[in-house]
Amino acid sequence: MVGRACENVVRQTDTDRLDGELWALGSVTTPMSRLYSKLRPLLFRLPPETTHRLAHTGLAALQRTPLLRAVTDYYTVTDERLETELFGHEFPNPVGVAAGFDKNARLPPALAALGFGFVEVGGVTAEPQSGNPQPRLFRLPADRALINRMGLNNDGAATVGDRLFEFDVDVPVGVNIAKSEHVPPATAPADYRESYEQVTAGDFFVVNVSCPNSQGFAELQTRESLVDILTELRDAGAAPLLVKLSPELPAPAVDDVLSLVTEFDLEGVVATNTTTERPSSLASSNRAEEGGLSGEPIEARATEMVRYVARRVDAPVIGVGGVSTAADAYRKLRAGARLVQLYTAFVYRGPAIAREINRGLLDLLERDGFDSVEAAIGVDA
Ligand SMILES: Cc1cc2nc3c(=O)[nH]c(=O)nc-3n(C[C@H](O)[C@H](O)[C@H](O)COP(=O)(O)O)c2cc1C
Repeated sequence: MVGRACENVVRQTDTDRLDGELWALGSVTTPMSRLYSKLRPLLFRLPPETTHRLAHTGLAALQRTPLLRAVTDYYTVTDERLETELFGHEFPNPVGVAAGFDKNARLPPALAALGFGFVEVGGVTAEPQSGNPQPRLFRLPADRALINRMGLNNDGAATVGDRLFEFDVDVPVGVNIAKSEHVPPATAPADYRESYEQVTAGDFFVVNVSCPNSQGFAELQTRESLVDILTELRDAGAAPLLVKLSPELPAPAVDDVLSLVTEFDLEGVVATNTTTERPSSLASSNRAEEGGLSGEPIEARATEMVRYVARRVDAPVIGVGGVSTAADAYRKLRAGARLVQLYTAFVYRGPAIAREINRGLLDLLERDGFDSVEAAIGVDA
């Protein structure tokens, strides 16, 4: 009890710092985000998973009401300069929701209504999993970061696959596929295939071999393991198929994966997942928690990975890691990303984030004389 009380005091201090710093960055541009900045200290008093559940309950309720239309009208930035065609699908804008936020594919219509241009659901595994014991999600407010060791809790591929048929959504929905916890790396290929065969209704598929929070993942990014997994998935007809990289993968290992991107003619690369590394700059009390770090501290590293990949393969790159503002998204696009995704900044900046980033992107394009997002892609690669 005493330990808990102390932790709360420290967390509150972190939150105060966040309020001082984040909003001093001049990133608040809409009444909705100002409202969220007032609400956030209250939400941050609750355990992170409780807040996450509350957000899910609210968004799921919204999906069942006619309000969804009004929300869509408010949050969606409709502008043909933001549109991209990729994987045979139309993306209304390049800002998507990263894997892990909607693990069970309950919310794609609500997330699309908040103005996101695409959603990646999952990670899903062949069987349902409860994940690691709680607490397993931690805020690092002074660093605008999260650490999670969720352990791929999800309802299982069959249930998620059924849900993909239930909703009608205007934006592409990808599915992140991961290895089941109890499956050893040797039988991982069959396990990935089993998952894929239950979620074929997805618009694209991301092989997650970079999860730092579940057993046996470290070995999956080696060339030999990946060859077997990709062979199995391609054999099952998985396409468009992308592979998601860890930000801490050393260059030779990245090169190995990229050679397979070419060999298997993969449709894309997602860069990056969370990291188990801890930059010395971290200031929040939760910085020593085990798990994958996400958010602002990984932004530069993830952008460098995007650039590294974009220089070496023709396959499209989805840039993810620390995208919080239009400037962050723009940096990843200019480094070579065709699309970007975010998770952590959604927690810190609230429901208006896609709208703000998209509006900011249009300003940046205009400032630099580009007539579309596509024209800016890779100019700094
Ligand atoms: C709570 C949480 C759960 C996540 N779950 C997954 C997952 O199931 N599969 C996956 O590939 N990435 C997962 N991620 C990683 C994100 O998709 C993303 O790659 C990472 O958080 C970096 O982006 P961000 O800085 O915008 O959060 C998760 C991230 C968080 C914070």
